[in-house]
Amino acid sequence: MANIVVVGTQWGDEGKGKVVDVITPHVNVVVRFQGGNNAGHTVVVGREKYVLHSIPSGILHPNCRCVVGCGVVVDPAAMIEEMESLVQRGVTLDGNLFISKNAHLIMPYHPALDRASEAKLGARRIGTTGKGVGPAYVDKAARVGIRMADLLDERLFREKVEVNLAQKNRLLREIYDAQTFTVEEILHPYLRYAGWLAPYITDTSLLLHRWIESGYSVLFEGAQATMLDIDHGTYPYITSSSTTAGGAATGTGVPPTKIDGVLGVAKAYTTRVGAGPFPTELSGPLAEHIRARGNEYGATTGRPRRCGWFDAMVLRYAVRINGIETIALTKLDVLDQCETVRVCTGYRHRGEILTEFPEEESALHEVEPVYEELSGWMTPTSGVTSEADLPAKARRYLERLNELIGVPFGLISTGPQRAETIVCEDSPLLGWYPSVRASLL
Ligand code: IMP
Repeated sequence: MANIVVVGTQWGDEGKGKVVDVITPHVNVVVRFQGGNNAGHTVVVGREKYVLHSIPSGILHPNCRCVVGCGVVVDPAAMIEEMESLVQRGVTLDGNLFISKNAHLIMPYHPALDRASEAKLGARRIGTTGKGVGPAYVDKAARVGIRMADLLDERLFREKVEVNLAQKNRLLREIYDAQTFTVEEILHPYLRYAGWLAPYITDTSLLLHRWIESGYSVLFEGAQATMLDIDHGTYPYITSSSTTAGGAATGTGVPPTKIDGVLGVAKAYTTRVGAGPFPTELSGPLAEHIRARGNEYGATTGRPRRCGWFDAMVLRYAVRINGIETIALTKLDVLDQCETVRVCTGYRHRGEILTEFPEEESALHEVEPVYEELSGWMTPTSGVTSEADLPAKARRYLERLNELIGVPFGLISTGPQRAETIVCEDSPLLGWYPSVRASLL
């Protein structure tokens, strides 16, 4: 059975939650491998809408086991709140949710440092979600992080909190002029969280190994996206984790030799939240139109997303970095009322045309997109379930995107519901999950 990684190809919010939800009935396990509750995966099931931040979207399927891998950073209070709200809505967690002992904790000083650092950066701020994700990964890399397993050992946990506070409080007080924390203020709630979370904390890398050996198929659910990757994204305007396919191995303990393929998710246009370069960004009424039709507001922070045209330079880069074999394209219907649509095919930089995505931060701030313009289809595509039923001009748009990015579309999403999905002819997805088309009928 195939073990597939699903990654975002742009700056996040591509609709990975829906794509994972469509695939989940065909896998046994869904695992998150990076990020934290900065993510917001929206899944619509019938009339119910779920926004998941820390827990894999697979949890909405009763037969799917969900794992929070070691590459994830967990805010226990936010995690418990999410768990409680799922339980209230009838979702079963016991026996379905497993959290890695080695996942790092987001501690109360992490969001405090995140916000204080952003305030200090002023005009150069990253525009983070303020959830403390960056500072938690800083501690992980600095080898002073506190992990899930530490939470289960009161003496060790206290010791680690004391060591951290000695440093963090100085930082908060002396550099940021911000509020400090006492050890007890942290221990009291966190030891309560420990009691709540203990039944779910386990050696998930061993569990995944055993499941894969016994023939289970695993879906690796990426959060954020390629252009926000710590190494390959638009540094420093990125998140602090390995969002690309390579992160699926390090963030779970499943070796690359057990991973069979990579699916990229892309929106039919581009959005970005937070600061940083965005070559195809639009402003004015067109940006407003796309934002309103696509409901482009952050699922975690509610911030309006910046909107722009499809950027084939970004997609080609994402295909290369992740080894993407097929793309799930989402939100095609958002462009239904555009008289013309544009696609960025290259960047103009200091008199030259670039055909490969530039990695240097300075170049990306200076590039000007080279556009190709196509006629819009001006016909509703919402809810269309077969390629043949798409308007000819929409098909032409998709063909052109395919030519430019070099890998085929596997799925096209035409609305938030599971059934509002086209499984493309010869979709590579059918090789991985042969009954995916039948399951959507
Ligand atoms: P952080 O992950 O909160 O540190 O934020 C760093 C950057 O990543 C900011 O530009 C955020 O807007 C962006 N970001 C983080 N999570 C998401 C997400 O789930 N979708 C889109 N952008 C995100």
